[in-house]
Amino acid sequence: MKTLTPRAITAMKGVEKIAALTAYDYRTARIMDAAGIPLILVGDSVGTTLLGYANTLSVTLADMIRHAAAVVRGVQRALVAVDMPFMTYQASIAQALRNGGLVIQRTGCQALKIEGGEFRAPTIAALVQNGIPVLAHIGLTPQSIQVLGTRVQGRSDAAARQLIADARAVEAAGAFAVVVETVPAALGAEVTAAVKIPVIGIGAGPGCDGQILVINDILGLSGDFHPKFVKQYADLDAQIATAVSAYQADVQNATYPGPEHSYE
Ligand code: KIV
Repeated sequence: MKTLTPRAITAMKGVEKIAALTAYDYRTARIMDAAGIPLILVGDSVGTTLLGYANTLSVTLADMIRHAAAVVRGVQRALVAVDMPFMTYQASIAQALRNGGLVIQRTGCQALKIEGGEFRAPTIAALVQNGIPVLAHIGLTPQSIQVLGTRVQGRSDAAARQLIADARAVEAAGAFAVVVETVPAALGAEVTAAVKIPVIGIGAGPGCDGQILVINDILGLSGDFHPKFVKQYADLDAQIATAVSAYQADVQNATYPGPEHSYE
């Protein structure tokens, strides 16, 4: 099976909607890939979903490399993009190239995701010119949580114009697609019409070229965290709690293990 290239993802714009998801481990990535998900992101959301941090700021390059390598081992067809964590690419273009190269070499992923629009364009251009495909990320960028909070972006005319300028700048810099997070639906559609690369929305309405969600959120494996834009397709928190309690009861009642679980 051929791996999807960044160019193939770009070519999906206007042809088919892109359903992207995050993954952090081999098994889940394998299931997604077999289901035909074309773009899998090893998000730094691993910090909140799996590692128990309050936000993504504590995630390290080593964390990303460990999880990304596991995801890549599970995937045959999907393009795997990996988030560069906080302060591993912001300090300078040299830092971005050094750390970006390390992630590509150690994980075998096909692309990196970095946050930032117009002001980040020189870094995106340097990565792409040096052979590293980039998925850009604009709008609400979680690594700026201490500046932006979690509020909807692009509500004022000036902020909406800036978002469109950001999308155009990352496209001109060579990004193969752009994630747009938490903006009004009408603005999500406007940004989508303004660029030739796919706009992958998360809380950006139905007018985008595709959608991306965090796997834990769609599986109901994220506790009390229920953002408005998430559609939940399973309730694994509850199912796991039920299974764990049933196991505990079986052990306490000595109904597990039974003869079928025991060796002669
Ligand atoms: O880290 C993440 O999961 C993301 C999202 C776009 C889903 O950046």
